[in-house]
Amino acid sequence: MLNGMHVYLNGKLVPESQAMVSIDDRGFLFADGVYEVIHVYRQKLFEWNLHLARLGRSLAAIQLPAVDGSELALIAEQLIGELGPEQSEASLYIEVTRGTHRRAHGFPPPGSTPPTILMWVRPVSPISKETVEHGVPVITVPDDRWAKVWVKTIGLLPNVLAKEKAHQNGAFDAIFVRDGIVTEATSANIFMAKDGVLYTAPATNYILSGITRQVVLELAQARNIPVNLTPFSVEQLLTADEVFLTGTLTEVLPIASIDGYPVKSPSGPLALQLLQDLHERAGLHA
Ligand SMILES: Cc1ncc(COP(=O)(O)O)c(C=O)c1O
Repeated sequence: MLNGMHVYLNGKLVPESQAMVSIDDRGFLFADGVYEVIHVYRQKLFEWNLHLARLGRSLAAIQLPAVDGSELALIAEQLIGELGPEQSEASLYIEVTRGTHRRAHGFPPPGSTPPTILMWVRPVSPISKETVEHGVPVITVPDDRWAKVWVKTIGLLPNVLAKEKAHQNGAFDAIFVRDGIVTEATSANIFMAKDGVLYTAPATNYILSGITRQVVLELAQARNIPVNLTPFSVEQLLTADEVFLTGTLTEVLPIASIDGYPVKSPSGPLALQLLQDLHERAGLHA
């Protein structure tokens, strides 16, 4: 974090070193909370409304009250304003937990604790051109997550373990596979292209429906690229022409190999086109 930047915690902007949550915070004890990550390009929030809507769905899914989106947007702008002018890209993190109460599984009694609301902005380094050109290696892992992956909860241990397994195997990320079907990566969705058709997993409860996934589908549609949302297998993935990840900070990132098998076109034309279109939508080519 840049020196002197504040974070927002429970109604106040405080220096990061003074931002503390209780040992009884239910986020800490039970991962009882939800979150969002939003890309900030040139001081502007990318697709804020889509992220806010998803945060609303996540909060409703775990029976937490809605947040005031316009208030959060004002605070987010203040936090973004603390970035130096040279900082072209950053991420905004929002987390809401069920608040602080003596440890017990059931919800705290109504009115006994407000939710904990945390927000910070931190600089991010853009993914290098070389990484995009070469693509990244991934491995496949069993998707042993719960059945409500569509909720963006802070309970990310399976994702953490899968990502670490990827790193321990010299890979960039892990691709979850449920009953032979490819779902997504640890913090990104996955697309493949075959004979000019774009494929990605349908938005069921078994994937986190990415905002970037949605944007990329719209960008593909605008270019008349056919899209197929039928579930696909690892075998199909291995015969694809192109495979790539999509995510808020991942953007559109080509995959070079899967479990050591090279992808036909690691940095293929569709991925590069869609990345360019995404950057255009984010105002980077203006
Ligand atoms: C499991 C998972 N899938 C997909 C995504 C991509 O979502 P988005 O494009 O909204 O960042 C994320 C983002 O964090 C994620 O955690």
